Amino acid sequence: MIRVQVPATTANLGPGFDCLGMALQLYNTVEMQRISSGLHIEAHGEGSRDIARNEKNIVYQAAMRLFEQAGKTPEGLKIKLTNNIPIARGLGSSAAAIIGGLIAANTLIGGDLSHKEILALATTLEGHPDNVAPALLGGIVVSVPVDGDIKYMKINPPPGLKAIMAIPDFFIMTKRAREILPQQVSLQDTVFNLGRLALLLTALSQGDFNMLSTAMEDRIHQPYRSNLVPGLKKVLAAARLAGARGVCISGAGPSLLALADNNFESIAQAMKDTFKQNGVHARSLILEPGPIGATTLELK
Ligand code: HSE
Repeated sequence: MIRVQVPATTANLGPGFDCLGMALQLYNTVEMQRISSGLHIEAHGEGSRDIARNEKNIVYQAAMRLFEQAGKTPEGLKIKLTNNIPIARGLGSSAAAIIGGLIAANTLIGGDLSHKEILALATTLEGHPDNVAPALLGGIVVSVPVDGDIKYMKINPPPGLKAIMAIPDFFIMTKRAREILPQQVSLQDTVFNLGRLALLLTALSQGDFNMLSTAMEDRIHQPYRSNLVPGLKKVLAAARLAGARGVCISGAGPSLLALADNNFESIAQAMKDTFKQNGVHARSLILEPGPIGATTLELK
């Protein structure tokens, strides 16, 4: 039996749309085992009522893609999921499912595919690499698809940095949050994001938190998504007022992210309170960046 632990991730970090993400110390576990026939799926924890127990399950589908690519499909499969990552909230639950399924399946057949091949396959399944790359590799990862391959660079999270997440009690499907984005953006907005992304990567590499408030601004996706999250601007402003260094929507939302090196509890409370004033019930998590990605255990 194989057990894989996969971290949650927050994508974009503001200006890094579809190319930047950070792993968080909040994990889902995938256990996978060959059985003589059929498919048996068990799911526990976050959102377990909404998780498919059949061929539509994302972990199963990812595993099958890998078995097919390797030409080694088992007769039957047992999968047990233990989830801590909230579903469809912008914390990389689908990336964790895909990476968990791929790594478990790969380990089960003896490791035929390399990490590089797994990352490419995961990106095809997810559509973009920004969550799957840190879920696999840990840390802060910049990743770009190049001719079917994924080129990436990893930055170790600066010491002292924490991610405060305010997680509303409603879903946003990433597909919908992408459909509302424009197909074209102006040169002005492109330049706005380029400069901030460069600042952000440099600031994170050097552990310079003073730069984060400017460096996490975005004009490519966040303005278009603000209508999907009631109170977004006010919650982000409240987080900054309470001491957050930088703020943004986490992935495609609806969770909002504040990066901070202090005042964690008061930032979390301010975000929850402001959400509440805007009619949204939200919970909060104070999370450490996850320096390592998916890890595997082989159990007898
Ligand atoms: N970069 C993606 C987006 C992350 O913002 O749509 C969500 O999966």
